[in-house]
Amino acid sequence: MSTLIKNGRIVTAVDDYNADIFIEDEKITQIGKNLEMGADKVIDASNRLVIPGGIDPHTHFDMPFGGTMSADDFESGPRAAAFGGTTCVIDFAIQTKGESTLKGLDTWHEKADGKALIDYAFHMIITDMPDSRLGEMRKLADEGITSYKLFMAYPGVLYVDDGTLYRAFRQAGDNGTRICMHAENGIVIDEIIKEAVADGHTEPKWHGLTRPTRMEAEGVYRSIAIAEVAKVPLYIVHLSCSDALEEVKRARMRGIDVIAETCPQYLFLDKSYYEKEGFEGAKWVMTPALREKWNQDELWQGLKFRDLETIATDHCPFCFKEQKELGLESFTKIPNGAPGVENRMSLIYNGGVVQGRMDLNRFVEVTSTAAAKAFGLFPKKGTIAVGTDADIVIFDPERKETISVNNPCTHHMRVDYSAYEGFEVQGFTETVLSRGRVIIENNEQKIEKGGQFVKRALTGSRLD
Ligand code: URP
Ligand code: ZN
Ligand code: ZN
Repeated sequence: MSTLIKNGRIVTAVDDYNADIFIEDEKITQIGKNLEMGADKVIDASNRLVIPGGIDPHTHFDMPFGGTMSADDFESGPRAAAFGGTTCVIDFAIQTKGESTLKGLDTWHEKADGKALIDYAFHMIITDMPDSRLGEMRKLADEGITSYKLFMAYPGVLYVDDGTLYRAFRQAGDNGTRICMHAENGIVIDEIIKEAVADGHTEPKWHGLTRPTRMEAEGVYRSIAIAEVAKVPLYIVHLSCSDALEEVKRARMRGIDVIAETCPQYLFLDKSYYEKEGFEGAKWVMTPALREKWNQDELWQGLKFRDLETIATDHCPFCFKEQKELGLESFTKIPNGAPGVENRMSLIYNGGVVQGRMDLNRFVEVTSTAAAKAFGLFPKKGTIAVGTDADIVIFDPERKETISVNNPCTHHMRVDYSAYEGFEVQGFTETVLSRGRVIIENNEQKIEKGGQFVKRALTGSRLD
């Protein structure tokens, strides 16, 4: 199968030029002006951007959490991601406490196998790591699981103590792999929650009020200190606020290998969403919580000056009816998480490029290339070049849409609300190729499945 994409404006993290792209089977084999070769399929990309498929390094499909399961599985989640211009996700497999991480990996392979429309990889969530199990981390790396998430939050659920952090960090560093950190002091936060509950507070807004930004900053500081001593590269996930960003900046100025991710929810939404009528605020109960609005400017600055490396979604959807409603009696019972995997590219293009906060190259970098580099997918994915996977998005920079659960163009996620309801965006995904297969064409799904598990390299890897 061959495909020729004609007349597009190709934008990568470093290039911006007009040319044609020739794809044979899964790979890009030629890029040039006025390519004339015959192809099984020709796509005219005039007046469109031709960009590397988005990479979302933080999703939770089919995840047990908060007494229920995240609403998108490996069929609906990747499909929604594809409609939004994302062609690869890195989801989180989970180790059941006391059991093998390799068993956890098998479970996630079973959940995903044969279902996904786009390619996917896994990080491993480590919930305990006695000395006797440390060798598993090497085996995980051999299986292409070259990053691990550990939690300072959620005591009694996913939380691990500092000793476990140190052991896992040391091993990850020795193996040439990376640690992803949910950095928030969950022990202190639980005490604050107890006080709020004792005072009779039940409404969703108390989720935000019991999670001070200082407790996120403390987690960032502590995890960086442990990573520095353990000599492991660190990736702070879902960084939400200026206090936490300051700790990242300070460490980077000292030459520490720490990079950080933020998410659209922290760039576009703020704590006023918790003040909505009745139980409505539960839609935005996520961790870290939404912050005061002024933090958003600091995060955009962080992206501009490269103290923030990537924009992921932390897509972890729960339906408002029946799932979020588990917390009707108390904010402590609301499942934490929100949807967004479908909306990331348009939100960031609109808020970043259209509104003048970043240029086109940086847009590609923060939505694709940087994640590929951080997580051992580059240069197979994350750019457009001869020899790379033909994961390509043809993006209409002018098209406007209003994001809504009721807009069939913006909502394929299996969840009964949109976190960005009513947001108007300019810039929209039109056609998507995944390893050369046209999976979405003019906003219509063309293929049901075919996404593959991607084994990730330890660091950046060369093409074969
Ligand atoms: O609220 C969130 N973020 N839910 C997903 C789990 C996590 O902490 O990433
Ligand atoms: Zn987290
Ligand atoms: Zn998450």
